[in-house]
Amino acid sequence: MLIRSRHRLSLGENDVTPESIYLSRRKFMSGVVGLGLAASLPRAALAGPDYEDVTKAKGPEWFEAQLADTRWNAITAEDKVTPFDDATHYNNFYEFGSDKSDPARYAGQLKTVPWTVAVDGEVGKPGQYALEDLITPSRFEERIYRLRCVEAWSMVIPWLGIPLADVIKRAEPTGKAKYVRFETLEDPKQMPGQASRFGLIDWPYREGLRMDEAMHPLAFLAVGMYGRVLPNQNGAPLRLVVPWKYGFKSIKSIVRVSLVESQPETSWHMLAPNEYGFYANVNPEVDHPRWSQATERRLPNSLFNPNVIDTLPFNGYAEEVAGLYQGMDLRKFY
Ligand code: MTE
Repeated sequence: MLIRSRHRLSLGENDVTPESIYLSRRKFMSGVVGLGLAASLPRAALAGPDYEDVTKAKGPEWFEAQLADTRWNAITAEDKVTPFDDATHYNNFYEFGSDKSDPARYAGQLKTVPWTVAVDGEVGKPGQYALEDLITPSRFEERIYRLRCVEAWSMVIPWLGIPLADVIKRAEPTGKAKYVRFETLEDPKQMPGQASRFGLIDWPYREGLRMDEAMHPLAFLAVGMYGRVLPNQNGAPLRLVVPWKYGFKSIKSIVRVSLVESQPETSWHMLAPNEYGFYANVNPEVDHPRWSQATERRLPNSLFNPNVIDTLPFNGYAEEVAGLYQGMDLRKFY
C-alpha cells in the first residue's frame, strides 16, 4: 500500500485488502487510495459510500445499471468531502445566472434526457453519440478531487464518471489532433442566462485542453457525484473535471467534443485574455488581477470560521502533472 504525504496520489495497489481494514482506512486515511484497490475487493465492499445529507435522485436506467459496477474510491483525497448542500447551492453556471444561488434555482428546468454529444474534427470515428453510448463502454469510477475556483474558493467533490482518455481513444484521433475543444449546450429557452441582454459570455461556453492534458489519467468526464446522478446545477448530464486547473476549465453540460489542430478559443480567455489564460493551472505564485491565488477559502466557511488554507501548485497534483509543462514559463502560460 502506498500512503504518501497529504496531497499525494498513489497508483498501484494490488493487495487484496480485508473489507474491515479497507472500510476503517477509508474513514481515517491520510493518503490516497491506489487505482487498483477497488477492483481487487470482494463484491460486498463495492457498495457505494453513504454520503451524509445527499438528496437522492434516480438517474436514467443506463446510469443506474452502470452504477452497480462502479469502482468506488478509485482515487481519494485526505481532505474532508464538502457537504452535498454546499456543492449544489454555491455554483458557477452562467447559463442560469451569475449569482451563486441561480444555478440551483433555475437549472432544474434543463432537459438532460435524451442527450446527444457530437464527437468530431480530427477523428476516425466522428458521430452523434447518445450519452449512454459514449459512457457505458467504460466502467464507472468514483474520484474524490479538490475543485479550486479562480475566485479563491474550493471544495472537495466525489465525482462519478470515466477517464476522458477513454472517450478520446474510442474516437480514434488522427495524427493532426493536437487539442480537444468542448462546447456546452446553447439553448436560451432552457438557459435564461443565455437570453439575458446583459450577458458577457459569447455563447456557447467553450473550453479546451492540449491533447496530452486531455489524455492524462486524472482528466475526467463526470456524469454523477456523491453516488448519484449529476445534479443539473453541477453540469448534468456530462461535465469535464480537470482537478489541477481552475474550475472554469471544467465545462458543464457538454454537447460537443472536437479534436482540432490548433489551440481553440475558450470562453473566459475570450472575455478577458489578461485575466484568464488557456492553461489555467492552479498556481499560488501567479495572482489573478482581482484575487490573490496564494490561499483559498475551503467551503463550508463562515465569518467566524474563515477556513482559509494555502493553495498548492497544480492544486496538489503537481507530482502527477507538472511534467506536462516542463520548460514552459508558467507566468507567461497562465
Ligand atoms: N461551465 C459552463 N457551461 N458554464 C459556466 O458558467 N462555470 C465554470 C465551470 N464550468 C461554468 C462552467 C466555473 S467558473 C466553475 S468554478 C465551475 O464550473 C464550478 O463548478 P460547480 O458549480 O460544480 O462548483
